[in-house]
Amino acid sequence: MDQSTLGIIGLGVMGRSLALNLERHGFRVAGYDLDPEKTRRFEAGAAGRNLVPCASLEAFLAALERPRRILLMVPAGEPVDAALAALRPHLAPGDLLMDGGNSFFLDTERRAAELEAAGVLYLGVGVSGGEQGALRGPALMPGGPPEAWELVRPVFEAIAARVGDEPCVAYLGPRGAGHYVKMVHNGIEYADMQLIAEAYDLLHRGLGLNNAQLHEVFAAWNRGELESYLMEITAAIFAKTDPETGAAVVDLILDEAGQKGTGKWASQNALDLGAPIPTLAAAVESRLLSARREERLAVSQVLTGPAPQMSADPQEVAATVGDALYAAKVCAYAQGFALLRQASQEYDYRLNLSDIARIWRGGCILRAHLLEDVRRAFDRAPDLPNLMLDPGFAAALNERQAALRRVVALTAASGIPALAFSSALGYYDAYRSARLPANLTQAQRDYFGAHTYRRVDKEGVFHTDW
Ligand code: 6PG
Repeated sequence: MDQSTLGIIGLGVMGRSLALNLERHGFRVAGYDLDPEKTRRFEAGAAGRNLVPCASLEAFLAALERPRRILLMVPAGEPVDAALAALRPHLAPGDLLMDGGNSFFLDTERRAAELEAAGVLYLGVGVSGGEQGALRGPALMPGGPPEAWELVRPVFEAIAARVGDEPCVAYLGPRGAGHYVKMVHNGIEYADMQLIAEAYDLLHRGLGLNNAQLHEVFAAWNRGELESYLMEITAAIFAKTDPETGAAVVDLILDEAGQKGTGKWASQNALDLGAPIPTLAAAVESRLLSARREERLAVSQVLTGPAPQMSADPQEVAATVGDALYAAKVCAYAQGFALLRQASQEYDYRLNLSDIARIWRGGCILRAHLLEDVRRAFDRAPDLPNLMLDPGFAAALNERQAALRRVVALTAASGIPALAFSSALGYYDAYRSARLPANLTQAQRDYFGAHTYRRVDKEGVFHTDW
């Protein structure tokens, strides 16, 4: 029997979909799952295909070409360590292990170092695009030793999404670089989703647009500069009715957002590095607030504010919201890319920001028209300290900042929470401020803790006897 090019451990939705994608591109794929039921489902879909379901780890390992190429598609955390522990005694120097889950980048670094001692290569691979992406073409974000990348490069380039003739995969850097980039991708994803949710709240609760109108607004935005996968699915969501009740599905869904941790990690790590990403953090915090639904229901009876309904021309405000959304999105991307730049220095990842924008243009959840412009910005100026300084984006922000202000003012006046929009505006205004009130903060620090300060009129470090 022919040996398999690649083996997948973990045959859940993502593992199975990737296997089918690989098979479609001519690769023979062995599959194994601890749960025999998942292996059986894989087997059912394998008939007539170049897929090799394996009932045991031994059979799986025997089915693979040498050096072995094994992709783990198991949940992040303990399951990855358990899979590695089970595999370890069977691996030979030169074998390649890849983790395609949303693993924490420092876990990836630790695992890579542990396996390196045994001569086993390890790649942390960010995989984005959900089930459909995995099946039809995901964006792939590999990080690890360059020789490991070369071992799978043709395979990954074949199965990744394509924009034009460019595959949405690139070698991103050493060690945990791939999972780091995926973490920031998800942080921006949270911000993008939260901005869209706030725009919906303003249009729906504030302006009274119904689902059919919301569908129209989002579909129209998706035809312009806001074109993106998230915009596309948002428009589709507003058009979906529940067959049982006839109501819009979106209106039947409880208003509490879940999260698995990648957005939180991005915020935690940004604080560790001292990188400001307020809109990404606001998106995490908005989810946390949403999840406290019982508390909110009780508090809604205690604390007051204005009624959300506003008297304004819905068409005209909708156009302003579209401009504000674009501006806020640019601010969120600017934060995410500035974090990548800082992390690249901190961890010596040598990230290429243009490559990252390029591979995010297709396959992944962030895919958007905007990313072509981001790519060009970093192509023109690889050392650009912040995306907002690119002449094209600066002009776009200068044109739309008034819209962003109007949206923040409208939400504030009507009591509609807009943590993401307001933090985007706050970031924009703070970053462009030649003078901030931090002189007072420094005075206070010096007052209560003799922390000293620098002066505007002379060099040196000073302390006042307050
Ligand atoms: C992707 C998604 C994917 C997953 C996230 C969602 O890029 O395909 O980001 O990785 O949907 O884990 O994260 P939350 O469950 O935290 O929203």
